[in-house]
Amino acid sequence: MGTGILARTAAHGVGLLAERDAELHGLLEREQIRQHETLAMVAAASTADPSVLACEATATGNVTTEGYPGARYHAGCELVDEVERLAVRRAKEAFGARHANVQPHSGSTANQVVLCSLLRPGDTVLGMDLKAGGHLTHGASASMSGRFFTPVRYGLDADGLIDYPAVAELARAHRPRLIFCGASSYPRTIDFRRFREIADEVGAYLVADISHIAGLVAAGVHPSPVDVAHVTTTSTYKQLYGPRGGLILLGRDAELRLPSGRTLRATLEDAVFPYLQGTPRLNTVAAKARALAEVATPAFRERAGRIVTTARALAAELDRLGHHVLAGGTDTHMVLLDVGRRGLTGVIAEQALESCGVIVNKNSIPGDPHGPRVTSGVRLGTNVLALRGMGVAEMAECAALVDAVLRAVRPDGDRNHDLDPVVRAEVAARAADLCRRFPLPDHPLPRPALVEADRTAAAV
Ligand SMILES: Cc1ncc(COP(=O)(O)O)c(C=O)c1O
Repeated sequence: MGTGILARTAAHGVGLLAERDAELHGLLEREQIRQHETLAMVAAASTADPSVLACEATATGNVTTEGYPGARYHAGCELVDEVERLAVRRAKEAFGARHANVQPHSGSTANQVVLCSLLRPGDTVLGMDLKAGGHLTHGASASMSGRFFTPVRYGLDADGLIDYPAVAELARAHRPRLIFCGASSYPRTIDFRRFREIADEVGAYLVADISHIAGLVAAGVHPSPVDVAHVTTTSTYKQLYGPRGGLILLGRDAELRLPSGRTLRATLEDAVFPYLQGTPRLNTVAAKARALAEVATPAFRERAGRIVTTARALAAELDRLGHHVLAGGTDTHMVLLDVGRRGLTGVIAEQALESCGVIVNKNSIPGDPHGPRVTSGVRLGTNVLALRGMGVAEMAECAALVDAVLRAVRPDGDRNHDLDPVVRAEVAARAADLCRRFPLPDHPLPRPALVEADRTAAAV
């Protein structure tokens, strides 16, 4: 533990929080304990290292400025300029990119920046349908991407795979200005080169959103789109184990001249600031720099490989146990189950598993008769299981927990579930045991006496 001003401020700050705001302090303590004691099999999340959390909590967040390093609109930026340059350098190194913008507040913002700077209102955007696994920002009608632009959506073939000839047909028929590839729930490898051929044929920009697979891409476990797509976007809190935020990465097209006469790089820089965002969150930029430094380590690469081998093992075991695994398996961290075939909904499955300390998320699946709050699918992921040190051997145990709950649970009305208390107690005990045997690395463990006191407080 450092003894400098950062460490003293952090310790003092938590002390003040406990003393002055016991209610909030208690909630934050309980949330941290919850993360230790539940088995997170959530594909859209990871657990940031305490050193990443520490960056977020620094006074760097007090610095108000606009613009980029060396060209700010405020004084006092000498040190934060260095922090941002470090984050940019590490982002470029991690992804082999020629240019990186580390300021987007989120993955969604990164996508909005790209849409609003490269297109005019009403232009056509071709993206994956939400129920097929696309993201809201890829042209869904619930999002500005589907309201300010004209969305056209591609789906999947009968095997649950991207149907590239069908995407090409849609592109030829609708001549989009921009094509999104990359998804929120698609477990198979994405052929970025095939997408670029389609985009080039119709004169569209290709944007690869690698939010879900950024860690696999950085580790070389999934092909990289950085030199293939015009623009690559990602969020930083999923597979990069970083803070909540986004990145925009450019590869060989960085200096491409757009019809405006400006380069792609300059256009996107101006689109982040001043077009869409104001002041950057420099504490978050520091946390991104910290997380991106880890990407270069052998441990990160080893874990990325294990994320995929464990997901494959989990999918194979669930399939063996009679569950319907969508897309026939996985090449990534993600396993999608169709629980509708068992007479369940995604929300019932999610709630029943959560009641046992197993955290997954409900998910729409192709042709889903239910809306996004109910769904017929469940999405599992291995980012946190791999971080906890689990390997292929433990996936039989994880699959057995999911299987036991999905077999025993009965719907009770639309959104409630009925689970045999014996099954619940048994699965909860086994999930808690797994968490104890595979603790979150580098995170101080909750002290048993405190956990007990906390439970009592929560029950009062
Ligand atoms: C493919 C994809 N893009 C973008 C996002 C949005 O990221 P953020 O939560 O940072 O806005 C997500 C998050 O779920 C995603 O799955």
